Order: sequence, then structure tokens, then C-alpha cells
Amino acid sequence: MKKDLLMWDETLFRDPEVFEIDYVPEQFNYRDEQTRELAFQIRPALRGGRPLNTVCRGLPGTGKTTCVKKLFEEISGTTKKVLPVYINCQIDNTKFAIFSQIYRKLTGHLPPPSGTSFKTIFDAIARLLVKEGTILIICLDDANYLLYENEINNVLYPLLRSYESFEGTRIGVILILSDMDVDLSRAIDARVASVLNPTDIYFAPYSEEEVRTIIGERVRQGFYPGAISPEMVELVVAQTQKSGDLRVGIDLLKRAGLNAEKHARRSIDREDICGAYLMSQYLHLTFSLKSLKKEEREVIRKLAELAKDKKDMIAGEVFKQVKESSEIGYTRFYEMIKKFDLMRLIDLEYRSGTGEKGRTRVITLRYDPEKVIEYLG
Ligand SMILES: Nc1ncnc2c1ncn2[C@@H]1O[C@H](COP(=O)(O)OP(=O)(O)OP(=O)(O)O)[C@@H](O)[C@H]1O
Ligand SMILES: [Mg+2]
Repeated sequence: MKKDLLMWDETLFRDPEVFEIDYVPEQFNYRDEQTRELAFQIRPALRGGRPLNTVCRGLPGTGKTTCVKKLFEEISGTTKKVLPVYINCQIDNTKFAIFSQIYRKLTGHLPPPSGTSFKTIFDAIARLLVKEGTILIICLDDANYLLYENEINNVLYPLLRSYESFEGTRIGVILILSDMDVDLSRAIDARVASVLNPTDIYFAPYSEEEVRTIIGERVRQGFYPGAISPEMVELVVAQTQKSGDLRVGIDLLKRAGLNAEKHARRSIDREDICGAYLMSQYLHLTFSLKSLKKEEREVIRKLAELAKDKKDMIAGEVFKQVKESSEIGYTRFYEMIKKFDLMRLIDLEYRSGTGEKGRTRVITLRYDPEKVIEYLG
């Protein structure tokens, strides 16, 4: 092998870990208010009481998961009486899977996979909690994945009403939602709603200046000095803003760094970033499409098909097409369009129409239609 193929000593990365998807950053600015509110919700548990329930809501990449993980780290470092359990509902989205994870957190091992009933696991958890006097805080991240199958009630009911069958159990939940218009009150049964009673915490999108600071901090931590010029950092910031998701920017830094190394460059250049963006930009698309409901996926598919012929689409005309092949009504269609706009899948623009028409809504897909169809599967 030629010596210069693997130049270990010339890496641009000081700490590659900081660009990983599950990295919890040390510096977590601009989220003090949300962190304080969440801590307030949890605080009763630290005094031996039942924690308050919370819904954290905000678009992708606004720091919801990070905020919870940081607080959970703090709890684990402070007390053994309160046990935080983090569950990723994209992975564990059935009652059985979720309670198995809780059981694992309590005992250090998963319940036997076959022949164990839900009741057995639940009873074992409750007995342990009562015996040790442990208070549980369960974070259900990306809880929208529980809504589609209506599993949310099946999960929340035993958690929140456990004290009825096992006196002394104290459990609180944090639900994280990146779906801006999920109406929880509609999805949740009355018998769950009466005990859930959550406080909402909102995570607003970061401003361009905030994105610049966060990206800059990641660069300082992750790369050696000189690995990326201020001008190229600006390019990354612009691309991050374009995608609307901080995660894209962080992924972009990592891929651009790897590209530069691949070409044995000592610093990242424009070509590395543009090449990386071809991959990173679809991170958002993949995550967003995954979070859509079935009928929303149908509408976005239709939009993508129409966008192949015409870039700017009149909303009313799109609706006519949608109506032909589905049961979706006018109001629901406009709700979806607004949601896609919020999710930055499309741009929704109001234009003053010609003649008698008045104002029309014009839809532009933010992605290459072929890619959307490809990722919809
Ligand atoms: N204030 C911040 N400072 C530094 N890094 C941040 C900050 N907010 C978010 N990040 C980083 O941005 C990425 C996305 O954050 P996070 O996963 O917390 O977002 P999220 O709101 O949970 O998104 P989603 O709804 O898509 O799950 C992570 O890599 C995280 O480290
Ligand atoms: Mg998250």
C-alpha cells in the first residue's frame, strides 16, 4: 500500500465525536428558558413527589432531545432516587418494547424475550419501584410515532395510573413532539387526559446568528485550527439555514471534513462542502418524510409528481388533483399544506392573483421531486 493513502497523522479532526448524531454538546446556549421550565417540571421528584408531565414541542433540530438528555445526565449525577429513562419511539414504539426498556433500565437486563406477558413486566417494574422508593421520569422522544398506531394511550395509561394498582409508585412523563400540529387532546383518551395534564414547552427555530454561534463552537471543538476558513464556515451556516435543521449543518461539517481528507487537503474547500451537501441536505427530507402520516405522504407524493412538470403550483389546482384519487377534504388539505410549509418541505407563498381571482397560494417543493419520490419509497 502506498504510504500516502492513509495519512493518519494528517487528520483535520481534533475530536470526530462532536459531529456524531447522538453527541450531547457541552455548550448548550439559547435554551436556558426551556431547560429551566423543564427542570421546574421535574423538581417535585427530587423532593420525593410525583413529577409534573410535560410536552416539548418544536421543529426538527431545535434542541428538544438535547435539552432532555442534558437534564437527565444531571439527575443521574445527583440522585439515585429519581431514575430518568430515555426512549426513542422511532425505535421502540409498542407498549411491550417501551416497558421492556424501562425494565432494563431498572434491572440492567431486558426481560426474557419470549413467554413474558406485558403484565409480568409491568408488575415487576412496579414492585421494584415501590420496594426501592424509586421515582421514574420517562421521556418518550418522537412520541408522534406512538400516535399513528394509537399506541400512545396504551403506553400512557399504565404509566400514569400505576399508582391505582400499586400504591406508592410515582411516574412522570416527558413527551417530545416535532410534529407542530399534532393535537394531543384529540389523540388521548379521557381516562389518560385526566392524569396527563401536561405543560407545553416550545422550542422555537434558531435564528441565523444563533446557528452561526453553534456551528462555530462545533468547528472549534471538532477540527484543528485552520481546518476550515471563516468563509467556508459561513457557507456551512448558509446551507444550514437553507435546510432549516441544525443537524444538517453538523452532518455537513463532518462529511466536508472527510471529503477534504479523502483528497488529502489540509483545509476544507468549497468543493468539499458542496459535495457533502448533496448527502446532508437529504437528512432533513428523510426524517421529515418518516414523520408524516399515511395520507400526508400521499399528498406529498402527488405534489412531487406534479412538481416534475411545473415548479410553482397553484394550491387550488393541486387540491383538484388530490381530490381525484383520495377522500381528503378541502380543510384537511390546507392544514397539510401549512404543515409542510412549517416543516420546510415546501414553500407556501401568497401572490396577488390576476383579474378576479384575488390572492392565490403558490406551492414550491423545496426538494428535487425525484428525490422526494425516491425517499417516500
Ligand atoms: N443550543 C445548541 N447548542 C449546541 N448544539 C445544539 C443546540 N441545539 C441543538 N444542537 C445540536 O443540533 C442537533 C439537533 O438537536 P436535537 O437533536 O436536540 O434536536 P431536536 O429538537 O430533538 O430535533 P428532532 O425533532 O429532529 O429530533 C444535535 O446534534 C445537537 O447537538
Ligand atoms: Mg430529537
